[in-house]
Parts: sequence; structure tokens; C-alpha cells
Amino acid sequence: MKGVFEVGSVEETWSLAAQFAAELKSGDVVCLEGDLGAGKTTFTQGLAAALKVKGRVSSPTFCLVQEHRCTEGAAIPMLVHMDLYRLNDERDVLAIGWEDYLAAGAMLVVEWPERAGSLVPEDARHIVFTHLEGEEHRRIEFR
Ligand SMILES: Nc1ncnc2c1ncn2[C@@H]1O[C@H](COP(=O)(O)OP(=O)(O)OP(=O)(O)O)[C@@H](O)[C@H]1O
Ligand SMILES: [Mg+2]
Repeated sequence: MKGVFEVGSVEETWSLAAQFAAELKSGDVVCLEGDLGAGKTTFTQGLAAALKVKGRVSSPTFCLVQEHRCTEGAAIPMLVHMDLYRLNDERDVLAIGWEDYLAAGAMLVVEWPERAGSLVPEDARHIVFTHLEGEEHRRIEFR
């Protein structure tokens, strides 16, 4: 999926996330960029629903990492949702298990990926969220 989409509701964000989820595989790194409240965690909820993960996705701001196991037989064993906002650099990111999760075949969905620096692989997917005029309007760009 490539291109720029404008959505007018949370449901539309979830629907885009479900379409995008169909392209994902084990070991993928998905970087979610954009300001506070732009919709990164909300998009992750849509991804998680499409990938049939167990448990609900909440903002991991206070716990940094949340592991979500996918249901039996799913293409991806685990979705790992990271919010790196409170971390400083690659060392911190390694300390929360970045490489271990990838080695275990997880898919990483990362908010504030800037903190991970060169740990972000070349082939990572990048999605940029922008808050537009209007409460529920967002631009979502798949790069
Ligand atoms: N179209 C939309 N897409 C996503 N979120 C929306 C939309 N319209 C309204 N919202 C609301 O905007 C807020 C987005 O918050 P969310 O936690 O997803 O942002 P975030 O980018 O993860 O921020 P942070 O960097 O603080 O983690 C939620 O309260 C959500 O309900
Ligand atoms: Mg968030």
C-alpha cells in the first residue's frame, strides 16, 4: 500500500489499517510517525484487530512495550507494539528487546521510531499521520 489517504473518522482509520495488515508478514517493522494524538495507537488497534491478536491495544506510553500474541495459525505469531517516546537512543531501544523480538519472528509496530536510529531496517514500512482541520480528520501517508 502506497499513497496518501484522508480519513474522517476512527472507523476509517481502522479500515485502512485492516487493508494494510493484509500485506504484512513476520519480521516486518512498521514505523508510525506523527505528533502526539495524530492517531498512531488508534491505527495499531486496527492492525491488531485485523491480525486477530489477543487482548486489547492501549497506549503503551507508560509501559513502552506491549506483546500481543496472535491466534493459533495466524501468519504472524506476535505483534509487538512499542512507544519509544520516553527513550533516548538506540541503547535504550536495544534494552527493551528490539532484536530479541525480531529474532523471535514478531512484527514490530513502533511509535516514535526516530529514537531507534539505525536499528530501523532499510525495508521498514513508514506511515506518517497528520492531524487535519476537524476533530476526526487525519492524513495517513504510506511511504
Ligand atoms: N480519524 C482518526 N484516526 C485516529 N484517531 C482519531 C481519529 N479521529 C479522532 N481520533 C482520536 O484521536 C486520538 C488519537 O490518539 P492516539 O493515541 O491514536 O494518538 P498517537 O498518535 O498514538 O499519540 P501519542 O504519540 O501520544 O501516542 C484518539 O483519542 C482517537 O479517538
Ligand atoms: Mg500512541
